[in-house]
Amino acid sequence: MKKIGVIGSGSMGSGIAQVAATAGHEVLIYDNNPQALKRTSEKLQKILNRLVEKGRIDDPTAKAIFGRIYFVEHMSSFKDCGLIIEAIIEDLKIKKAVFEQLEDLVSNDCILATNTSSLSVASIASACEKSERVIGIHFFNPAPLMKLVEIIPAIQTSDAVLVEAKKMIDSWGKLTVVTKDTPGFIVNRVARPFYGEALRILEEGIADVPTIDWAMTEIAGFRMGPFTLMDYIGNDINYKVTETVFKSFYYDPRYKPAFTQKRLSEAGYLGRKSGRGYYDYAEGAVNPEPNKDQALAKLIVDRVVAMLINEAADAMYLNIASRDDIDLAMTKGVNYPKGLLTWADEIGIKKCVARLDALHSEYLEPRYRCSPQLRRMARDGKTFF
Ligand SMILES: NC(=O)c1ccc[n+]([C@@H]2O[C@H](COP(=O)([O-])OP(=O)(O)OC[C@H]3O[C@@H](n4cnc5c(N)ncnc54)[C@H](O)[C@@H]3O)[C@@H](O)[C@H]2O)c1
Repeated sequence: MKKIGVIGSGSMGSGIAQVAATAGHEVLIYDNNPQALKRTSEKLQKILNRLVEKGRIDDPTAKAIFGRIYFVEHMSSFKDCGLIIEAIIEDLKIKKAVFEQLEDLVSNDCILATNTSSLSVASIASACEKSERVIGIHFFNPAPLMKLVEIIPAIQTSDAVLVEAKKMIDSWGKLTVVTKDTPGFIVNRVARPFYGEALRILEEGIADVPTIDWAMTEIAGFRMGPFTLMDYIGNDINYKVTETVFKSFYYDPRYKPAFTQKRLSEAGYLGRKSGRGYYDYAEGAVNPEPNKDQALAKLIVDRVVAMLINEAADAMYLNIASRDDIDLAMTKGVNYPKGLLTWADEIGIKKCVARLDALHSEYLEPRYRCSPQLRRMARDGKTFF
């Protein structure tokens, strides 16, 4: 089996190393901070012990997995690796420097992958002479638990590298979807209205935080309401992703971040991790109850779901990914109750268009423009499936 190299031993690098070693590979993990590498070694040992305690794996298996992970002090140890996954700090200049250095240290046919969430894979690949060997392999956090992996060929990536990288990650028990090298790839692009439209409804005073969360979980069937989820992710992190997507799309108003979240983030109300966000997490704190008005819930759900469907349809319209991969990404990557395109068929494409057009004519904001994909399908009486 091919040796796998991992660069960066933070949350993502350590998770990816665990996944690859569990799949039977020898894994070499490097970090330029020796303390981080030491912490990761201890953390991985603890995680594997916990899996043994829970009865998920037996002790010899845990020992064998840990035994396959080598904590290395220099990238020159990567010379026999077949695939290297970079998961260092999200900084284009630093990533490019690492890729440039890496190319001199590895074999000619070694695939070089980046786990970037928001940078262009094409610009990272441009640091390499053999840029056709570079690809995006985007795991979700925590990598051992999240089934979805987005595979992102850059314009330079060869077809053979795409096929091989996908085959490798599939063999690790992951579900892969292929996406174009565009901001947010599939999941972080299509999911934006889940937060953005909920925030807009809140800012307009249509409903409060618990009511919107209640409608989106109890009525729409999402596992977590948007505000509970933002508090869970961290308002600083979630805001940053929205801001990055917004800037990367040349300030398309559809992705405009909300002041409400910016202020929360600035105030240090980051969510669960700081004890306060949209909700108060202090011991004994009493949070307001939702207003369980069915008509209000319908209005909230119809509006957020219409915006999500529009985003998914537009991603298909612009060939960001296939119809099946878009639905798969949202159900397996972020546990949506249904694929958004499947949902559009269920609601009826004409109805989706009517909901978006009603919002557009009320607000006269391009944010609410209906994707040509939906409009054409409504005109031609087509369905997604
Ligand atoms: N955290 C997430 O939810 C998540 C999800 C998907 C993708 N990502 C992406 O994965 C990458 C890593 O994210 P993370 O959350 O694991 O970060 P992290 O901060 O937890 O870990 C980054 C690690 O990289 C090391 N590092 C920094 N510069 C280095 C260099 N030049 N050479 C070697 N090691 C270096 C740091 O010491 C640190 O241990 C980023 O590109 C991020 O966008 C993150």
